[in-house]
Amino acid sequence: MKLFHTIASARRWRKNLRSKVVLVPTMGALHHGHESLIENARKIAGKKGAVLVSIFVNPTQFGPKEDFQAYPRPLSKDLATCKRGGADAVFLPSACEMYAADASVTVCESKLSPTLCGRSRAGHFDGVCTIVAKLFLVFQPTHAVFGEKDWQQLAIIRRMGRDLNFPVTIESFPTVRERDGLAASSRNAYLTPQERTLAPLIHAAMAKAADLKKPQAILKSCTAAIHKIPGARIDYIEAVDACTLAPLSNRKNPGRLAVAIFLGKARLIDNIPLPSIA
Ligand code: PAF
Repeated sequence: MKLFHTIASARRWRKNLRSKVVLVPTMGALHHGHESLIENARKIAGKKGAVLVSIFVNPTQFGPKEDFQAYPRPLSKDLATCKRGGADAVFLPSACEMYAADASVTVCESKLSPTLCGRSRAGHFDGVCTIVAKLFLVFQPTHAVFGEKDWQQLAIIRRMGRDLNFPVTIESFPTVRERDGLAASSRNAYLTPQERTLAPLIHAAMAKAADLKKPQAILKSCTAAIHKIPGARIDYIEAVDACTLAPLSNRKNPGRLAVAIFLGKARLIDNIPLPSIA
């Protein structure tokens, strides 16, 4: 497995590849959800193609009061995960390799970004779009792989790909969950043992609510159940159109039940499908 720290060295490697190039963008602290994304990337690339994982804790997507400094960076464990998953190369740039000190161009998606997480994380998705666009430009992947746990991010990246005509096929894969239903996330490491026992109740509340028919009833049930979790603070609980992220008023189109819940120091996001009902 090759390691690249500079854009120039990664570009030289890319130049010689003729088959599929599948990018898995990450911020490291890789868990089994990421490992499964890398394995899926390997399947897409096949024997002839190449799988590239980027590990970069992107400063521009963190707000001033967020956990950029504290974000876990277990590099040797991450490299072992990339290898196990079948990566051919890992891109590990520094912040100054990715951003000029006086960088003044950003990619801003303006319709889907201000909703859901964007309401409490101003500028977050500009940071995400900018770094993902830069990775697409540097590596010119044929495919890029994302998890569905951050559904809003996925919808925004698809929109960016469409609107900026990136010749990249965006592939997504369902959220990987712990046995008790908690969505795998690097931020689960912030939970105390007591909070960790409560965290699966979030998914349980969502799954039970999603059995109901009307979006309003779903929201009411989910909110009531999450209010019962000791210490849980609701950032948002919303039923949205899966594609436009607009609030769902009926079940004509596929939707998602999406939540962001604070539990102690952790802000946990999760979402599940609300299939259309004919
Ligand atoms: O989902 C993430 O880990 C990040 O937002 C991403 C897509 C790697 C961009 O930094």
